[in-house]
Amino acid sequence: MALAHERVFGQRAAPSALPSSSGYKAYIETYGCQMNFADSELVAGILQTTGYGFTQYPQEADLILINTCAIREHAEEKIWQRLKYFQSLKRLRPHLIVGVLGCMAERLKKKLLEEAAVVDLVAGPDSYRHLPQLIRQVEGGTKAIHVLLSREETYADIAPLRLSPYRVSAYISIMRGCNNMCSFCIVPFTRGRERSRAWHTIVQEVQALAEAGYREITLLGQNVDSYNDGGIRFAQLLAKVAEAAPQVWIRFATSHPKDMGDEVLETIATYPNLTPYIHLPVQAGSDTVLQRMNRGYTADWYLQRVEAIRRYLPEAVISTDIIVGFCGETERDFELTLELMRAAQFDFVYQFMYSERPGTLAARRYTDDVPAQVKQERLERVIELAQSLSLQANQRQIGTQQWVLVEKPSRRNPNDMAGRSFAGRAVVVRNAAPSAQPGDILRVQITDATPATLIGYATGHS
Ligand code: 5AD
Ligand code: SF4
Repeated sequence: MALAHERVFGQRAAPSALPSSSGYKAYIETYGCQMNFADSELVAGILQTTGYGFTQYPQEADLILINTCAIREHAEEKIWQRLKYFQSLKRLRPHLIVGVLGCMAERLKKKLLEEAAVVDLVAGPDSYRHLPQLIRQVEGGTKAIHVLLSREETYADIAPLRLSPYRVSAYISIMRGCNNMCSFCIVPFTRGRERSRAWHTIVQEVQALAEAGYREITLLGQNVDSYNDGGIRFAQLLAKVAEAAPQVWIRFATSHPKDMGDEVLETIATYPNLTPYIHLPVQAGSDTVLQRMNRGYTADWYLQRVEAIRRYLPEAVISTDIIVGFCGETERDFELTLELMRAAQFDFVYQFMYSERPGTLAARRYTDDVPAQVKQERLERVIELAQSLSLQANQRQIGTQQWVLVEKPSRRNPNDMAGRSFAGRAVVVRNAAPSAQPGDILRVQITDATPATLIGYATGHS
């Protein structure tokens, strides 16, 4: 199972001001899930110890690293395009080193070196510790590759270099890899076996972030409910983290419907800084499709988990992932997905067309037989329903007061600030600038709503 939310999009590494002891500058571009963004921060941390500085501009970089996603074909197509662009930069700067990191590196391995002359270096998700050596190898004149997956690597001892320009929110990976083998998913092949990071190193990092003034931390894993460090399970980890940083809002992703137990929900209800936001990918609403996907639950089971969330956490925001057009999906199967969406009353839905990934169980066992046009049409129907469910959910918030963590100035209006409510809804706070700063927690009266955003004004400060 893969992580959700910020879908495939590129982001430049930000700390342009960081000096470099060697004079060399690195540029890191990240695609994919939150885990990849967290990994890029680890990579930046590793590069910094070897004397690299950073730039936001690929044109002035001596080293370009592109951290890639392989989850759908489209994600990989984007990377090929970017590599073409980097090729044009290399013509102007022949000493430029270009490296491909992440899931696509792990999937394609030396094919990347063979098929894109611009690529000097390939490193998979468990290979980042070796980056300094790999870079030296390229400097010595040979291409470098390291794509061995590990059963132990959690990078627990590596200090990430935080790339967000606002020191408000941070990610912490609490585990790596995935053992689930959902039949559509490439992640078990690109990120390897599941392993949990030692709990005390997580608590230490949380404390350090709290001391540095961070207000929100998201704990990341492909399936956080199977976290297990010598008997410390996810519920216990959450409790330890909540106690270690009582002023910090704690979020997490991703939960798995087959594993998410009541103990986790009870723990969230117990600690005032554990946020009631649950990302619980359902993927499909038909039991036959769920079985072919190897998800390990039925639609009924899923809806019972949703009921449990609403019972323990009445204020919960629940989001999900849905794949349309999986192998053999009939119109009736698809209608069951829409029915489940209505029954679950999702706050947010992330929807995807099935994209066959070579080597996965589904690619070997089933035929990708839903025509592209039908996939497209089903996607549109999911989007339409999701929009109306989101709007209804957001409209129910009108008239309430909510705590909102201010993240940044609003893109639309410089007088407004954008942030997120405690339960995870996007909020625009009207006329909050310039008095409110990123990192402030405001009491906000909600006056309006769109499917994506709540709108309101500040009535107080925490
Ligand atoms: N095709 C389309 N969507 C996929 N996802 C994972 N693999 C595929 C695939 N082969 C989706 C799932 C997952 C999300 C991160 O991406 O919905 O939860
Ligand atoms: Fe994240 Fe890799 Fe999955 Fe993409 S393929 S969503 S980068 S784990």
